[in-house]
Amino acid sequence: MSRTCLAVILAAGDSTRMKSSMSKVLHPIAGLPMIAHVMQSVAAANASEVALVLGRDAEAVAAAASRPDLTIESYTQVERRGTGHAVLCARDAIARGYDDVLVAYGDVPLVTPETFKAARAALANSNDIVVIGFETPSPTGYGRLLVENGQLLAIREERDASEEERKVTRCNSGLMAINGRRALEWLDRIGNANAKGEYYLTDIVEIARAAGASVVAVDAPKAEVMGCNNRAELAMIERVWQERRRHELMLSGVTMVAPETVFLSHDTELGQDALIEPNVVFGPGVTVEGGAVIHAFSHIEGAYVAAGATVGPFARLRPGANLAADSKVGNFCEVKKAEIGKGAKVNHLTYIGDAFVGAGSNIGAGTITCNYDGVNKHVTRIGEGAFIGSNSSLVAPVTIGDKALVASGSVITEDVPADALAFGRARQEMKPGRATVIRERNLAAKAARKTKSD
Ligand code: UD1
Ligand code: CA
Repeated sequence: MSRTCLAVILAAGDSTRMKSSMSKVLHPIAGLPMIAHVMQSVAAANASEVALVLGRDAEAVAAAASRPDLTIESYTQVERRGTGHAVLCARDAIARGYDDVLVAYGDVPLVTPETFKAARAALANSNDIVVIGFETPSPTGYGRLLVENGQLLAIREERDASEEERKVTRCNSGLMAINGRRALEWLDRIGNANAKGEYYLTDIVEIARAAGASVVAVDAPKAEVMGCNNRAELAMIERVWQERRRHELMLSGVTMVAPETVFLSHDTELGQDALIEPNVVFGPGVTVEGGAVIHAFSHIEGAYVAAGATVGPFARLRPGANLAADSKVGNFCEVKKAEIGKGAKVNHLTYIGDAFVGAGSNIGAGTITCNYDGVNKHVTRIGEGAFIGSNSSLVAPVTIGDKALVASGSVITEDVPADALAFGRARQEMKPGRATVIRERNLAAKAARKTKSD
């Protein structure tokens, strides 16, 4: 029988050290608010309900946390009176009675579902409190885990620790799983007689033990339980997230030539045998199918790249770019809200926006779809097998038929039927010998200037 679980997520901090106009848990990691990462993880650890304990920016944080697969309630902690007090803000939820109460922090976003599951499993294995700990050579600032014979005796906060206790390198991540049937009984006994005058959640350990409970610690990798207090830590957490996801993708069959230079979003999907060259940035909403190649220095967001397609180097795919199999978008091209058909080529210095490019068409260098009239956007439709000569402007709305040819340098303002050749430029004029006349005149002028200045 599966155990019920309430996750209580503490996110009432002021984010003072972030020096930010918004709560730190709203800052994105891989393009997704920190709090949403925590929600993802507790959902994957099968929490049946979530109680958010909020302070600053409560509405925005609740909105960022919401997900369709979780029942979420928000509680407000008006005054920050410590982690024990914060958990008790969700008293009504805890009082409903769950098998497990999982305490997580909104500013500790890298915890994996496996770690939460391990804590829940240890709880199910006849323990009453399972504290998630970690080992660190630099424990300053953390609560220390005082363990004896496998039992966690106490968590000692830095300020309240003795010289000896401060030497302990096994620390409290702050996260824990608590027997939900007894949680309130113990939480209600937490006092604030300590160096900070706060209600410490960590005191629950000694309280529960005095009541005969079994309390243990399970360790997590330090990188998982990293918290975010300032922008430097935010960047460190981002780095760990990126490394982790790149590693997963490489193990799933994606080639990255210089993985440390590739930036992913939380939802980037890369298929097996996709090749990602150095310095590629993926914004949100990108899928690259297997066998596609993303050349160096490309910037891609909200785009779909089918199998065998190639992008870049130095290409920009914006939202709604949809590249069919074996198509090519080359250097210094920008594609927005446009379909590039199977095998079509957009190779050099081109802007394709609000457009359909048919299969096998070739878009010459410097072609621009003029999609914007200053007020509205208009669509360009290019059929299959068409050829657009270099440096053409296609003034939308406009349609170019299948297999049509557009002469280089054209400004196309009218539809071009299938199989037609369209010129939209001034006819070339020739003046034989005229170049010599002009050159000699210019040389004479230069000589006259020189005599004068001598
Ligand atoms: C806490 C732990 C410490 C642990 C450390 C890990 C306690 C007493 N100490 O210390 O053992 O090593 O985390 O980072 O629990 N919060 C609220 N309301 C409050 C207080 C805190 O929502 O009234 C939230 C904060 O926003 C934060 C989390 O709880 O997300 C931890 O609070 P913080 O003040 O950072 O705890 P520490 O003193 O670092
Ligand atoms: Ca902290």
